[in-house]
Amino acid sequence: MKSLARTLLFWFLLSTILFESEAFKVLLVFPFPARSHSILGEGYVRHLLKAGHEVTYITPYPMDNSNPNLRQISAADNLNAFNAQPLSLQTLINKVINIEQEFHFHNIVMNVTRSTLENPAVLKLLNDSSEQFDVVVAEWMFNEIYSGFAAVFNCPYIWSFPFEPNFVGLSLIDEATNPAYTANIQLNDIPPFTFSQRASSLSFQIMTTIKHMLFYKSAEESCYQNAFEPIVAKRGRTLPSYYELKHNASFMLGYSHVSLGQAIRLPQNYKPIAGYNIDEEVEPLSEDLKYIMDNAKNGVIYFSLGSNMKSKDLSDEIKQILLKVFSELKQVVVWKFEEELPNKPKNVHIFKWAPQQSILAHPNCVLFITHGGLLSITEAVHFGVPFIGIPVYFDQHFNVDNAVSRGIAKKVTFTENVAKNVKEAIQDILNNPKYHQRMKEISFTYHNRPISPGKELVFWVEHTVRSGGAPLYRSPALDVPWFQKMYLDLLALIVAIIFSVIYVIRLICVSKCKIQIKKKTL
Ligand SMILES: *[C@@H]1O[C@H](CO)[C@@H](O)[C@H](O)[C@H]1NC(C)=O
Ligand SMILES: *[C@@H]1O[C@H](CO)[C@@H](O)[C@H](O)[C@H]1NC(C)=O
Ligand SMILES: *[C@@H]1O[C@H](CO)[C@@H](O)[C@H](O)[C@H]1NC(C)=O
Repeated sequence: MKSLARTLLFWFLLSTILFESEAFKVLLVFPFPARSHSILGEGYVRHLLKAGHEVTYITPYPMDNSNPNLRQISAADNLNAFNAQPLSLQTLINKVINIEQEFHFHNIVMNVTRSTLENPAVLKLLNDSSEQFDVVVAEWMFNEIYSGFAAVFNCPYIWSFPFEPNFVGLSLIDEATNPAYTANIQLNDIPPFTFSQRASSLSFQIMTTIKHMLFYKSAEESCYQNAFEPIVAKRGRTLPSYYELKHNASFMLGYSHVSLGQAIRLPQNYKPIAGYNIDEEVEPLSEDLKYIMDNAKNGVIYFSLGSNMKSKDLSDEIKQILLKVFSELKQVVVWKFEEELPNKPKNVHIFKWAPQQSILAHPNCVLFITHGGLLSITEAVHFGVPFIGIPVYFDQHFNVDNAVSRGIAKKVTFTENVAKNVKEAIQDILNNPKYHQRMKEISFTYHNRPISPGKELVFWVEHTVRSGGAPLYRSPALDVPWFQKMYLDLLALIVAIIFSVIYVIRLICVSKCKIQIKKKTL
């Protein structure tokens, strides 16, 4: 009896030790103040907590979650780092501000970064020498300053990359992509490129690199030094150079998948995990929504312009035309909208808040009308619903064009004609089975992966800690200068040899000729 108790105690202690050593301390840095970005952060929180890890989460939108292993650090001040008034659809239609203006965008991003690093709660965390982490996961948003968190806690770090992989992102962990056939979210061209598209793709890549060197690099470096140098010094170490550290991520976990983007070649330390934020089981619909959707004999069209845009920013004229278009449909329309509308037809139902995933998951949902954010498109592919994209800004244009080129969507642009164009697009998608068919094929590839994206996320985070920063995955391309990769040094050598040979031949010729001329004149 005693020995049994002893054996049990032994196994209990062993398993506690094993279990304890499996719980890692993870710091998640997702302070960008846009709801869609916090959805990405929350996906990490949920999966890592579920795997038993201790999570510290820096976010502008603290979650309603009382898990004792979760500590949240509010960066809600970042919501004020956007100087501009919130974007309204109307200003975008009228193009009053052009968010794609690069300098403006760079300033916004730098303001958010500074605001994060000046946040008292973040400073307290950084300043506290007793704080330790096993790994940092930081969202990449157009600069690499948050890599400094890894220097402070002397641990490896991982980039969470919120876009289709591009040359800027992949240069951090490997090398730039080939502009001849790689699409870029900031250009709207979809491969195969024409001659001029190929030229503009190359020039974009070169110009972006030069602009970064000339205008942004020094501001980023000084922000990095100011924020992290004294803190790292206080811990008795020296801060690595910005260049060195920003190229030292163990992995880049990207919000991409071959079913959503391109099948370009990817380095071994890039892992495509799009869809990890979508729960394996969707929440049930509310009573009223369920009733509406269950009884929609001709199907349901779900209309939402996303979390950053408010439908109420639409002009009254557009609202009325849209209502008229919807009233002529056989389908039921579920519209995520922030206000009640007068003259609402019978088949249109407005919900201030709508559980998008649960609606798309319903078998009666036949069409989705969306702004084309990457998360919404991923959800459409996840649940196999073809869509109409009305892109508003940034990567949405690219996302929608890309989906159109794959035959799962139609695009409608934001003009005062939007309603008429939406109507034509609805009829086209509903009357033509090829959109559903194609979406089914793409959705199959999206789901058919060796491991679910959430499990894969946890796997690579754990691997990073257990392998001491995954040094074996580091790309050798990072240590080779660009002119050596392009063999420009070899080219220079060959050119030099050719010129020397020509020179020597000419010398010989000239001296021979002189001798001959001398002979003749003699
Ligand atoms: C960035 O912050 C500075 C100072 O707080 C402010 O003057 C500037 O307008 C901000 N820029 C943007 C683009 O929000
Ligand atoms: C950092 O910690 C030191 C004590 O170690 C304290 O004097 C200082 O005020 C702290 N700074 C911040 C910004 O919390
Ligand atoms: C780069 O990462 C590796 C693995 O995490 C680490 O051992 C090394 O010290 C890091 N180098 C710098 C400059 O931070």
